Amino acid sequence: MSKVCVFDHPLIQHKLSILRDERTSVKEFRELVSEIAMLMCYEATRDLPLEEVDVQTPVAVARCRRISGKKMAIVPILRAGLGMVDGMMRMVPSCKVGHVGLFRDPETKEPVKYYYKMPADITERDVIVVDPMLATGGSASAAIQFLKDDGVKHIKLMSIIGAPEGVARMQKDHPDVDIFVAALDDHLNENAYIVPGLGDAGDRIFGTK
Ligand code: PRP
Ligand code: URA
Repeated sequence: MSKVCVFDHPLIQHKLSILRDERTSVKEFRELVSEIAMLMCYEATRDLPLEEVDVQTPVAVARCRRISGKKMAIVPILRAGLGMVDGMMRMVPSCKVGHVGLFRDPETKEPVKYYYKMPADITERDVIVVDPMLATGGSASAAIQFLKDDGVKHIKLMSIIGAPEGVARMQKDHPDVDIFVAALDDHLNENAYIVPGLGDAGDRIFGTK
């Protein structure tokens, strides 16, 4: 069974409270999504392997530790996942970015694929899939299945808000994929929106409503 990590760090919780607020502007919303992703990235990469290196300081040789050449890729689920990329790239500037375009069919709530483009060496990389909202879990599960079909072995999922239904779906479809969220909310409403959630993440990031 996959691990579900809920971030209870005060900085993340504070920023999330502003993110949820319906009065928060598009500009501030976008900045907060990026900042929360940056803080979450710090914890989600905690298990990156390190190797020892000697570094000559102006005073002496220091035994230091560096990330041992592990390659990473971030895969945002379009559109809303794009809002998390910039913050993560600030933490891991050498990572590559793949894109999966999915939207939820308003009637069936099932994900519809419209774009898929990965770095050529994606199978050699550890992948973090990012999407602010894990609602029914249909989009995340489908995106992760595309990556597995391509041969990707090590995948994590990072969302800002998760619903219990989405977590259950992910654990059923992908028990090998650890899940990182800043909050686990109560339930989904009749439109499969997360309650209390924050509304439509894509619309709030891009100002389309
Ligand atoms: C939202 C969100 C997720 C998906 C989550 O995207 O960004 O991708 O819904 O719902 P699910 O867990 O039930 O699949 P949406 O379909 O609204 O597209 P958008 O990002 O282009 O706005
Ligand atoms: N997608 C969103 O953007 N918000 C939700 O609450 C559910 C799906």
